[in-house]
Amino acid sequence: MKKLRIAVLASGQGSNFGAVLNNIKQGKLDASICVVISNKKSAGVLEIARANNIPAYFISGKQFPEQQDFDNRVLSFLNKHEANFIILAGYLKMIGTEIIQKFSNRILNIHPALLPSFGGKGMYGHYVHEAVLDYGCKVSGVTVHLVDEKYDTGAPIVQRCVPVHENDTPDTLAQRVLKVEHQVFTEALQLFADGRVEVCGRKVKIK
Ligand code: GRF
Repeated sequence: MKKLRIAVLASGQGSNFGAVLNNIKQGKLDASICVVISNKKSAGVLEIARANNIPAYFISGKQFPEQQDFDNRVLSFLNKHEANFIILAGYLKMIGTEIIQKFSNRILNIHPALLPSFGGKGMYGHYVHEAVLDYGCKVSGVTVHLVDEKYDTGAPIVQRCVPVHENDTPDTLAQRVLKVEHQVFTEALQLFADGRVEVCGRKVKIK
């Protein structure tokens, strides 16, 4: 079992990336982060990476409007830094088929709700928590799942419930969920690092 060399794809502040990185530093996750790639130039995630001397790249969607060209650029950085695993940590762009096939069952996304509820296109950030509260849910949660060709449809690896409180706003719920995200992403990655994940079609067995 090769040690995980994780590439992080992210579009935002990067708190999940930061949490994974801290857990690696503290010896709670046996892996390394070899590259961080963002489609947003000013994304906080790039700053965190640079502050930690991790290679960090911005790829412009304007410069590479075709998915295939964008993905080729991503792939060149994945190859250059010898990534063998990918995490989407708040990445708001679709991943193309070629990357999914090359990293088959080795791409994880984190979603701030219990899939298959409150997922899919347009369900990101505060939209997710607003929808959970509008529905009147008593619990929400976190899903770490494998990535396939559609949004949020890959098989779950780890799911965790988070209570919804009566007086929650999308912000308060988001904060409570995010704290759990910071633990659960690492847990899911450690399962892969330990070679405990067996994927057979949609069925995931944790050995
Ligand atoms: C998280 O809520 C994650 O579940 C979602 O995007 C958000 C990213 O947050 N996919 P951060 O940039 O890691 O703080």
